[in-house]
Amino acid sequence: MMALADFEGLLKASMGLNADSIGASAIGRAVQERTAACNLGDPAAYWEHVRQSDSELHALIEAVVVPETWFFRDRESFSALARLMRDELPRSSDRMLNLLSLPCSTGEEPYSMVMALLDGSIPADRFRIEAVDISTRALAQAERGVYGKNSFRGRDVAFRDRHFEATEHGFRVNDAIRQQVRFEQGNLLAPDFLPGAERYDVIFCRNVLIYFDRATQDRALTVLKRLLKAKGALFVAPAEPALPMSHDFVSINVPLAFSFRRTAAIPPGPKRTIAPVKAPPRSRPGIPVREGRTPRGLTPAPAPGTSLQAEKTPDLSEATRLADQGHFVEAATCCEEYLQRNGSSGQAFYLMGLVRDATGNSTEAVNFYRRCLYLEPDHSEAQIHLALLMERLGDAAGAQVLRNRAQRLARRTRSAHE
Ligand SMILES: C[S@@+](CC[C@H](N)C(=O)[O-])C[C@H]1O[C@@H](n2cnc3c(N)ncnc32)[C@H](O)[C@@H]1O
Repeated sequence: MMALADFEGLLKASMGLNADSIGASAIGRAVQERTAACNLGDPAAYWEHVRQSDSELHALIEAVVVPETWFFRDRESFSALARLMRDELPRSSDRMLNLLSLPCSTGEEPYSMVMALLDGSIPADRFRIEAVDISTRALAQAERGVYGKNSFRGRDVAFRDRHFEATEHGFRVNDAIRQQVRFEQGNLLAPDFLPGAERYDVIFCRNVLIYFDRATQDRALTVLKRLLKAKGALFVAPAEPALPMSHDFVSINVPLAFSFRRTAAIPPGPKRTIAPVKAPPRSRPGIPVREGRTPRGLTPAPAPGTSLQAEKTPDLSEATRLADQGHFVEAATCCEEYLQRNGSSGQAFYLMGLVRDATGNSTEAVNFYRRCLYLEPDHSEAQIHLALLMERLGDAAGAQVLRNRAQRLARRTRSAHE
């Protein structure tokens, strides 16, 4: 008798997927889909088949990957990349700068890296980008380089006018951008993955570690450490900063960029300390901060007519920076002050959730993730973190509801890409 757990084990062994991160039902559906596609009567027959066929194992992997991505996702990471490379150019004389986008999914991430670098005046002949993903379907889409509206999120899409051409099938990325990227299929966890050491000046490894369990995350970080030059920079996703920090990386300290260097690359010197933060008055509904007091990390209230969004960003950047560095108490204080002053914000609730989660306060973490999702139902990181937390707390049904939601969102994204 074939159990779903056998397929979960196979996927974990082959690609690192932690079934909890996408939910057992998603794996069950993928198995049913592939069993039918192979004209096999039942999962037991499919199990025999998939165990003997590398191409069928790959088809099963294709059915479970989450290709969700878009151009300039977490925009600050790309601005930080351009600044880092500008600093690096004079030091590297004529050397070519090598960058890696892993995983690159359907190509939005590596193409965004190129656009950020060219727009930041880094000459095209000074850098090249390798882009790797396990999914051949995603890579085919990346090489086609034609994108629909789901790949362009957020308000600032001016880059589209500069670097794309409108076609009847969507926006096609210009050749000047395409020629900087080389796509390659690869499995980050395969023993022969990208042989050699110290190959890259920069690695973007974002939004894949969240699909691995802790032991697999550690294996992935070991691979990244091998591939990164001693003074290179690693970029991860907002939900993943704790991982590099547990592997001898330190934050580069660029707010909202989630970027790290190896500790060995930091010259010895006096340790930087963060000034202790005075606790603000507890945030109680209806009780405003006393007049005249501008708590740490907060800008004064925006003048009438100025953009509230523009005023809000620096405060959350500070909270994120502190959380990145593991200063959870200070990060929470910063978020509380921000919320007290600016009112509800999905991202602030999400950060509070992360902080509470990291410090073991599960009940409050659940509440904050929920508040984030109330304001931003499609906040995929909050969905994934809340689902994992609820699972840990024994609420499998609640976790499943969230995963179904996250899967619907991923399916919407996938079909928008096709
Ligand atoms: C959510 S996308 C992230 C794309 C992009 N880095 C971003 O942040 O927008 C996750 C990608 O990870 C890829 N992936 C999953 N497991 C992998 C593995 N073991 N090796 C390489 N790629 C993997 C999937 O195919 C999918 O395209």
